[in-house]
Amino acid sequence: MCGIIGYIGEKKALPIILKSLKKMEYRGYDSAGVALVENDKLIIKKKSGKLDILKKELKDFKNNSTIGIGHIRWATHGEPSDLNAHPHNDCNSELTIVHNGIIENSNELKKSLIKKGHIFKTETDSEVLAHLIEEYYKNNKLEEAVKIALEKVNGAYGIVVFSLKEEKLVAARLGSPVVLGIKNKEYFVASDVAALLPFTKEVLFLEEGEIAILDRQGYKIIKLTGGESIRETQTVDWSLDEVEKDGYDHFMLKEIMEEADTVRASMRGRVILEEGDIRFGGLIDVMDKLKEIDRIIIVACGTAHYAGRIAEYVIESLVNLPVEVQYASEFRYREEPLDKKSLVLAISQSGETADTLAAIRKAKENNVLTFGIVNVVGSTIARETDAGIYNHIGPEISVASTKAFVSQLVIIYLLAILLGRQRKLSRQQAIEILDELNKLPEKIETITAQASKIDEIAKKYYEANNFIYIGRKLNYPIALEGALKLKEISYIHAEGYPAGELKHGPLALIEEGYPVVAIIPQDKVYKKTINNLEEVKARLGKVIAITNEEDDLIKKVTDDVIIIPKTLEILNPILTVIPIQLLAYFIAKRRGCPIDQPRNLAKSVTVE
Ligand code: M6R
Repeated sequence: MCGIIGYIGEKKALPIILKSLKKMEYRGYDSAGVALVENDKLIIKKKSGKLDILKKELKDFKNNSTIGIGHIRWATHGEPSDLNAHPHNDCNSELTIVHNGIIENSNELKKSLIKKGHIFKTETDSEVLAHLIEEYYKNNKLEEAVKIALEKVNGAYGIVVFSLKEEKLVAARLGSPVVLGIKNKEYFVASDVAALLPFTKEVLFLEEGEIAILDRQGYKIIKLTGGESIRETQTVDWSLDEVEKDGYDHFMLKEIMEEADTVRASMRGRVILEEGDIRFGGLIDVMDKLKEIDRIIIVACGTAHYAGRIAEYVIESLVNLPVEVQYASEFRYREEPLDKKSLVLAISQSGETADTLAAIRKAKENNVLTFGIVNVVGSTIARETDAGIYNHIGPEISVASTKAFVSQLVIIYLLAILLGRQRKLSRQQAIEILDELNKLPEKIETITAQASKIDEIAKKYYEANNFIYIGRKLNYPIALEGALKLKEISYIHAEGYPAGELKHGPLALIEEGYPVVAIIPQDKVYKKTINNLEEVKARLGKVIAITNEEDDLIKKVTDDVIIIPKTLEILNPILTVIPIQLLAYFIAKRRGCPIDQPRNLAKSVTVE
């Protein structure tokens, strides 16, 4: 939700902090701020709004501090304002903190700190941490004060703190990601690896309940529960180019244009074509357990949840196992019986989504086998699941998830083939699907090549106030995803429905000019959906169809058609989703929306 950064080293901290914050802008853009040292005094500069506003303010600001912290905010407690922007400090302006997360008992803590004489300036829960640490900061050992303070706190935090009294940064994590970066005599702390890549690829992910102390000589990690943690750094293989826009106007478009490669990358090294089999490095130790499972529960949020809804059809068809897909935020509070033969599968791009993580923890408490399909290497869900599969598609920066969805689908097909081959799926059936999966990158390129045609369609409809998306079977979740994509980046109200449901209510909305997007490839239910489109046309609605061929049937019931290549019916969603993403992108662009950073949203939702 927010991004935190800390630097201690030999260079000027300010440019480093600003550069890192830029890389984390997708995490929040309600305000930005930095804390540095000048003439033995704490200097805090913070502004509400996007990072560029702060940067403008700092244009002529000179500062030589080689220690500092920074923050980019996605507001939870307290409106976005200059005052509520981080960093926050203690009563004497000697100690300063940046925080990502939520302090759930902040009201109680604040009341008792006020009684002790602390003076609060903001409405944030985070400021409580600054005063709480101040309260216990007695003997020039910042880490001890941080440790005692955090013992009193309920909630989630990734923090970095420093004090004028000591040349060190103290960072801690519980429920919000924190990663250290190391480069010779320079030390960094950030909310994610993307923020460190301009400086180093040597990183160390803090575990839950760990505190890191970084000074000019090195770093040390201690546990909130006591004792030291000795762990090795790891080298990440994401390149800086992968987190730059590469000439595209938005990360979202860049990420859609990468989708052909996304399919290749998600399959690389995992397919044994001649055997019709799949090998996932992360599943080797649990292959026998997988033979035993008799039910799969998929937990995920947002777009990842819709990938799960497609998995439901795919796994049921190829594996013949019952699959249930639940919103992670619902699963975590349900009281359904979970038995040992179930598998709980989390799908999460970031690997940090709080609800999905809580769902996994609940499954583990019930001794149920847990898996993750996760993109961010070393993320919490990746570490806490019993086994898992990485997407291996590089960072996804735009808040709107696109290439991660395509990759999640590819992994789902591969996983279904693996499970299917352990059960009823024949080698020949598996080879047929894998062969076709191999052909998808080229087919995707023929769709992305139609970007300008899709933009022309966007031009006709971008001023509409409402949209309905319809699809059947595997393409019903694509209709849901289409509506989500449009809502989140263009702020147009949109709903996704199974095409057959239209006549049970939503049809009442259709009037002259009302746009309906139909995902209608030429599959077994093609003609059924044609009938639904007749119903729309009879009410003078406008139909935009995504299909494989402009035949007479479709011509009669559509206003605009986007043609995609044919593939196996079961693989259709990988192709049908691409025009859906491009349409949302171009509509949002024509409406002048801030596509990569939609209002009120954040890339990584680490609060409940
Ligand atoms: O990182 P995750 O995949 O767990 O994120 C889940 C959702 O927050 C995410 O897919 C969200 O719905 C996207 N903004 C949709 O584009």
